[in-house]
Amino acid sequence: MKQILLLILLSCLLAVPTLSNVRDSSNWTRSQKANPDHIVEFRMALKQRNLDVLESTLLDASNPKSPNYGKWWTNDQILDLIAPEQENQLKVINYLKSIGCFNIENRRDMIKVSADVSVVEKMFSVRMYTYVHNRKDQIIVRSSTDYIIPSEIKSLVHMVTGISELPHLKHGPKAHKINLSDIRVKPQVGKSDPGIVIPSTIQNLYGIPTGFDNNPDSSVCLAEFSDDQSFNKADLKTFATQTATPLINVDHIVGPFDGSNPDLESTLDVQYGGAVAETASVWFWTVKGWMYEFASDLAASSPFPYVVSMSWGWPEPLQCESGIANCKGGTSEDYVNRVNVEFQKIGLMGITLLAASGDQGAPGDGAPDCSTKNPLSTIFPGASPWVTSVGATMLVASSTSFTDNAPVCSKQKCASSTTEAVCSYPDALITTGGGFSDYSPMPEWQQDAVQAYLKSSAAFPPHQYFNISNRAFPDISALGHNYYIIAGGSGQIVDGTSCSSPVIGGIVSLLNSYRLNNKKPTLGFLNPLLYQIGSSAYTDITTGNNYCTESCCSKYGFQATKGYDAVTGLGTPIFKEFLAYVQGLN
Ligand SMILES: *[C@@H]1O[C@H](CO)[C@@H](O)[C@H](O)[C@H]1NC(C)=O
Ligand SMILES: *[C@@H]1O[C@H](CO)[C@@H](O)[C@H](O)[C@H]1NC(C)=O
Ligand SMILES: *[C@@H]1O[C@H](CO)[C@@H](O)[C@H](O)[C@H]1NC(C)=O
Repeated sequence: MKQILLLILLSCLLAVPTLSNVRDSSNWTRSQKANPDHIVEFRMALKQRNLDVLESTLLDASNPKSPNYGKWWTNDQILDLIAPEQENQLKVINYLKSIGCFNIENRRDMIKVSADVSVVEKMFSVRMYTYVHNRKDQIIVRSSTDYIIPSEIKSLVHMVTGISELPHLKHGPKAHKINLSDIRVKPQVGKSDPGIVIPSTIQNLYGIPTGFDNNPDSSVCLAEFSDDQSFNKADLKTFATQTATPLINVDHIVGPFDGSNPDLESTLDVQYGGAVAETASVWFWTVKGWMYEFASDLAASSPFPYVVSMSWGWPEPLQCESGIANCKGGTSEDYVNRVNVEFQKIGLMGITLLAASGDQGAPGDGAPDCSTKNPLSTIFPGASPWVTSVGATMLVASSTSFTDNAPVCSKQKCASSTTEAVCSYPDALITTGGGFSDYSPMPEWQQDAVQAYLKSSAAFPPHQYFNISNRAFPDISALGHNYYIIAGGSGQIVDGTSCSSPVIGGIVSLLNSYRLNNKKPTLGFLNPLLYQIGSSAYTDITTGNNYCTESCCSKYGFQATKGYDAVTGLGTPIFKEFLAYVQGLN
């Protein structure tokens, strides 16, 4: 797979490249034929029904003006609406049994199955091989050609995952560590505040209270993909001490976990999602596979977390490029649309999904060299209308200043500015992503804001380079530069929309606490609310643009301007305004 890790490391003066936006499906080498009795696990996504009703129901339940606001559905109720008729589920199951599959788990609109290699080969008209990764000594079993859905069940099956795709394995981080016994001040780079950002920087900037009356049921989940499966519990203790924040309570771990070799993305997500959410329950979810595997498992999970942050993404049109996702034989658009349905189910269950808007500006990971052929690209899930897309800002010189007394601030200069601009290269090590989706039409809830933006005096790329009638992203932003984390016992400084997405996750979990304390439903799918709450709930970010990636500057991109823009969305949150609005809702 080729999803990127949205994280850049900066340490002292030294910038190191993005950790893993390197395509490495060709690093898998085909080896010998798979053992005929090796067991393969795969998923069959069944064709669904009534998707128009699912969408209108979700839009109604998430609209603060609707009498049905917050009337979330259970997964079973949703499946009663959209799953294929039971008779068709059984047809597929009977076929799978007849051909020799086992461990058949019927999720009504998806069937999880195991089968021997010999059965898989016959069923999907493929040859299965072992593939060896050159770096990690990992071995997996996959087909040498695309699967073909058997004719007996072809009319009922949308796509199959787990047969043909090769996963992406990320490169190990190369970070320079901060020596905590040293007093160091990073010289000012460009116009950004050289100080490090710690939880209290964020709490001060957005007015997030500490010691919030947290509800024990409030939760935030950090979802990790590829082989990112670890943070270290000892690091959480050091982080709490150094930043003077409560110890983070990770009480749900889903998927493979290995705390011995902490990963920077996971560490960042847990430390900042957890610190802002304070005493909320923190989930850490590692995914084998990509968005379909995660979204279908989350929708079927019980209990489930109320807020999920995903600091991962890759251009929408590249979802089906060999190796990224699980849609061989299908198209990227088809894959995106299917996962979007899973996201709608999740939103209608009362779960808020957040995704990073990307770290390569408007050029994105589809045009990181700023080529002019297709100069702009998008990101998935960050451009999906069914997630809240989160961009990044950075602190720049300001007239007011903030002083932090956390222990780390006596050794390392902490940020003191209180003014934000677009997080962009070269002042920061990343440029926040933003633009217009390739596939999803502009939703009603953002029409007014985006039309006003399109009519503004901001400069726009030529219209052939972006789809002006589609979903604009991001929706909201938060700081994404110079975050201090503790990974493997050492301080590290990181940049990215990977920083801002978990922070918004923490904020939403605090708002959910208020709701739960008052027996109100969780906030769930958040976007209609974000666009209705009004401009007083945001600090509007009006300085900067997203033309540059870490390696070049494009002629094309988007500019921040007054009101909504496809760089920082509506702006950064003012917590007390959000709380007041949420208090007034049913
Ligand atoms: C294969 O992995 C190496 C690092 O081990 C990396 O430098 C290279 O770019 C990868 N190849 C591809 C095609 O991604
Ligand atoms: C960290 O700083 C201390 C005090 O300046 C020094 O003694 C120690 O060698 C440094 N460690 C590293 C790894 O640079
Ligand atoms: C823009 O996206 C819409 C889907 O929202 C699609 O129907 C249309 O063809 C796209 N236009 C262009 C120029 O790609």
